[in-house]
Amino acid sequence: MLTNDQLGKWDRENFFHPSTHLAQHARGETASRIIKTAQGVHIEDRDGAKLLDAFAGLYCVNVGYGRQEIAEAIAEQAKELAYYHAYVGHGTEASITLAKMVLDRAPDHMSKVYFGQSGSDANETNVKLIWYYNNILGRPEKKKIISRWRGYHGSGLMTGSLTGLELFHKKFDLPLAQVVHTEAPYYFRREDQNQTEEQFVAHCVAELEALIEREGADTIAAFIGEPVLGTGGIVPPPAGYWAAIQEVLNKHDILLVADEVVTGFGRLGTMFGSEHYGMKPDLITIAKGLTSAYAPLSGSILGDKMWKVLEQGTDENGPIGHGWTYSAHPIGAAAGVANLRLIDELGLVENAGSVGAYLNSAMKDALGDHPYVGDIRGEGMLCAVEFVKDRDSRTFFDASEKVGANVSAALLREGVIGRAMPQGDILGFAPPFCLTKSDADTIVSSTVKAVKAVFG
Ligand SMILES: Cc1ncc(COP(=O)(O)O)c(C=O)c1O
Repeated sequence: MLTNDQLGKWDRENFFHPSTHLAQHARGETASRIIKTAQGVHIEDRDGAKLLDAFAGLYCVNVGYGRQEIAEAIAEQAKELAYYHAYVGHGTEASITLAKMVLDRAPDHMSKVYFGQSGSDANETNVKLIWYYNNILGRPEKKKIISRWRGYHGSGLMTGSLTGLELFHKKFDLPLAQVVHTEAPYYFRREDQNQTEEQFVAHCVAELEALIEREGADTIAAFIGEPVLGTGGIVPPPAGYWAAIQEVLNKHDILLVADEVVTGFGRLGTMFGSEHYGMKPDLITIAKGLTSAYAPLSGSILGDKMWKVLEQGTDENGPIGHGWTYSAHPIGAAAGVANLRLIDELGLVENAGSVGAYLNSAMKDALGDHPYVGDIRGEGMLCAVEFVKDRDSRTFFDASEKVGANVSAALLREGVIGRAMPQGDILGFAPPFCLTKSDADTIVSSTVKAVKAVFG
């Protein structure tokens, strides 16, 4: 068996890691963590460390690790039919069954699902379909997409542009011109601290209206948003936000894309975030929770309104010129079918709601009054702790102090994985849905110890 030293050397010499400080890693200044195995909510590395993964990988291993039912479904599919494409009307039992299962769970007005591989490519598909839609409707100028600052929608050219985080734009010549950004619904970070939640929602709406006015409604095709901001800081929207935004979009005939890559299939304690917040999207992006990351698979769920126009488009122009070799890959589809069945059988959506609420309230009880904790927030199985230098004046730490990263490193020493979110000193949690109350207690007590280790 290869030693960890040998693997670490090969890692530094050969492996280009995503979202990594490349130079430090190549120089060996950051450790290679080589994961060996996992079961339930725990992962184990090759040094023998057992860690409670309170971020479910990248908020994706929703059913937890080591599920034999999904592993067996993948193996059976690989043995029977590892691959066939989905072009010109081809399908497999797994891909057709999964499409039916997705639509059975989606809001009533949704009509069809297109399968890709990642959240990024699904959003790329969404943008192409939106442009196609407006071309078929004879509105070639109506093409811009509104996204929010701190939104996360992927890291491709278009999807990296939709993402509203500086790190994903800097030195990449992004965002592209067709993307415009508006205010994030981040009440804790509101500029005017005297604003009530209601006033802040009115401010977000006014910012959106002003942007539409500046750009011209006839140039704006769609608005994309995560029901709960994820990578931008795990921020549930203020009360009434989605209803108010939806009203503006309807008024200006702007499509709504609900990016449910994180929230889809149960993370908020409801099947979809759209349902949770009463949104009526024209497109829903799904990925992560569709297969709980046992195999790569994503999807774009289309509403009736867009589907009718797409049908009209192919009657006028011939087959749609969009597809990936791996669209609806049978192995991903088999994983998806087994995963969605398991979620139902084990009641994991309900568990995400109830244990998630317990985690959030226990975290508030334990750290809500801490002098360096400015905000604790969450929804369902999502929770975030935001650190501040001074609570009363809501002064933030300088990014160079790396407070969030230090707390997450201290937490790791306690045996728990939480994520230092990329913009701000925010410690994020998004555990698997099978978390127990006792696991939640461990997350909270370990966080208390990590906070003590950093702040004294
Ligand atoms: C809301 C959201 N959309 C899209 C993506 C992109 O998905 P992927 O990394 O699979 O391309 C992510 C990834 O974290 C996400 O959180």
